[in-house]
Amino acid sequence: MEDERGASTLRQAEAAGLAVPFVPWSAIEPDFLARWDQGQHLAVFGPNGTGKSHFAFTVAEDRVALRGASCVILANKPRDKSLSSLAAKGWRRIAEWPPGYEERLGRRVILWPRYPGPSNPRANRRVFMRALDGIMREGNWLVVLDEARYWVEQMGLRTQLDEMWTASRSNGITLVAGAQGPSWINTAMREELQWGAFFRPQHRERAMDVADITGDRRLWPVLMGLRRHEFILGQLRTDTYVRTRLPKPSAPAGSAEPKADSPSPPR
Ligand SMILES: Nc1ncnc2c1ncn2[C@@H]1O[C@H](COP(=O)(O)OP(=O)(O)OP(=O)(O)O)[C@@H](O)[C@H]1O
Ligand SMILES: [Mg+2]
Repeated sequence: MEDERGASTLRQAEAAGLAVPFVPWSAIEPDFLARWDQGQHLAVFGPNGTGKSHFAFTVAEDRVALRGASCVILANKPRDKSLSSLAAKGWRRIAEWPPGYEERLGRRVILWPRYPGPSNPRANRRVFMRALDGIMREGNWLVVLDEARYWVEQMGLRTQLDEMWTASRSNGITLVAGAQGPSWINTAMREELQWGAFFRPQHRERAMDVADITGDRRLWPVLMGLRRHEFILGQLRTDTYVRTRLPKPSAPAGSAEPKADSPSPPR
């Protein structure tokens, strides 16, 4: 059942001639993975805590299993529970590019160099730039940039990521980029964006900005009507949208451990 807010905004959307059906994740995921071709970028939008990372890591993992691509998650944090839980699932953590033979076997790596501290957050910039060059040369990688704005602004990789985003399609590089809103996406990127996952925005203005990305402003009331952890999955070129929701993540392996047991970063 829709809650009050959901029901009224969905009515507005329907009045505007737009209905976005709810489809269980188990029903939509196989179809989505089959259609989401290598080289097609996916942007994930939503406020903190809505489930962007859970979604990005799930589709990355399932895509590796189903489509045979290799996946790398870029990370530059002191610690991160959900990334640590991926390590427990067989993702290999590396501090430098390229991954070695052993690390490539599972086709799932996290490039996560030692966090340099807040005084010099860009200390690892070269590591990531080398990785982007290597990834482009090799091709056939899926690259997850959780919190895209961080990479663009804090890490100062705007030019490099623009280049990757617009030139990588022919190399079979797929980017998955999460963010709260679309402000970091420029016009050229917009044209290259094929897929979107949209969680309920914080407010109406953000909902309109996000709806703009889809090219259909009528989507904003549908966005505002989404329930917790629910999102719209859209193929932007074909204007195909469904509402769906992932199953609850299994508890991160690290969550039951005392802090002192957190894996220490590689040197
Ligand atoms: N589909 C879901 N069902 C139930 N709980 C979920 C679902 N998706 C995510 N969660 C839970 O919600 C919390 C936030 O999820 P997640 O870290 O993926 O969100 P996020 O949007 O990436 O947040 P942030 O912006 O802070 O990184 C986590 O505790 C996660 O376990
Ligand atoms: Mg996150």
